[in-house]
Amino acid sequence: MSTPIIKLSNISKSFGPIDVLHNISLEVNAGEVLCLLGDNGAGKSTLIKVLSGVHKPNAGTLEMDGKPISFDNPRDASNQGIATVHQFGGTFPLMSIGRSFFVGVEPTKRFGPFRIYDRKTANETAVRAVREFGITRIDDGDRLIGGLSGGERQSLAIARAVHFGARLLVLDEPTAALGVKEAAHVLRIVLEARKRGLGVIFITHNVVHALTVGDHFAVLIRGAKAADFRRGEKTREEITDLMAGGEAMAELEAEIATHIKIA
Ligand SMILES: Nc1ncnc2c1ncn2[C@@H]1O[C@H](COP(=O)(O)OP(=O)(O)OP(=O)(O)O)[C@@H](O)[C@H]1O
Ligand SMILES: [Mg+2]
Repeated sequence: MSTPIIKLSNISKSFGPIDVLHNISLEVNAGEVLCLLGDNGAGKSTLIKVLSGVHKPNAGTLEMDGKPISFDNPRDASNQGIATVHQFGGTFPLMSIGRSFFVGVEPTKRFGPFRIYDRKTANETAVRAVREFGITRIDDGDRLIGGLSGGERQSLAIARAVHFGARLLVLDEPTAALGVKEAAHVLRIVLEARKRGLGVIFITHNVVHALTVGDHFAVLIRGAKAADFRRGEKTREEITDLMAGGEAMAELEAEIATHIKIA
């Protein structure tokens, strides 16, 4: 077995008296997509915030490439190659594509005695990076982020992470607010990142999206890991039930159908 890119062992996190995560252990290998599933409030976003340096765990350890690591802040995590795209996006709507791509690491050029932001290089590089992922609709780096569709924003964020050498891509519900075509596009980009050897953690409520990209699945129920399995080991129905917190969804769906018939 190869050493996982990231390994979480017995991670627990509470906020004051509220226990949110209990003893979570997970591994992600290079070139593999781990789908993190679970109902609302199960602790998925909290877990990835531990991974991306937003929260410090109360207990447990993290290892990257077999070596213990800890993060004091999100910059620490991103410097070590963990790129996180948070739920509800974190990009700046009034920034241009080129600017947002290089935020904090802007390319510069000489201007008399000064060095100034090199808009042309930034724009060209950003547009080329997204084009390598097959996104041809983004062709002008001066366009504002706010004018992009949700899928384009997610795609741009992923392309940016890959461009800057991320090894682990963490995506918190990248397809949640998207239509069918846009979601398919983002899923394709996730598969492209996997092909390039990145490890991916993909959070979703959509069982079809999970089954499309996932090599490996972990289900959280009320902050604990309730299941951990590989592609092909569970049926779609079993996965749906686990995602609903262990409820038998087929029965619930049948019950709803009866009510609809009566009404
Ligand atoms: N900073 C915080 N302080 C207190 N409680 C918190 C904090 N952050 C999260 N929680 C609680 O932890 C639980 C898990 O939240 P989290 O956002 O991780 O769930 P989730 O699985 O991502 O849910 P969703 O699918 O709705 O995004 C929730 O009950 C939430 O209220
Ligand atoms: Mg969440």
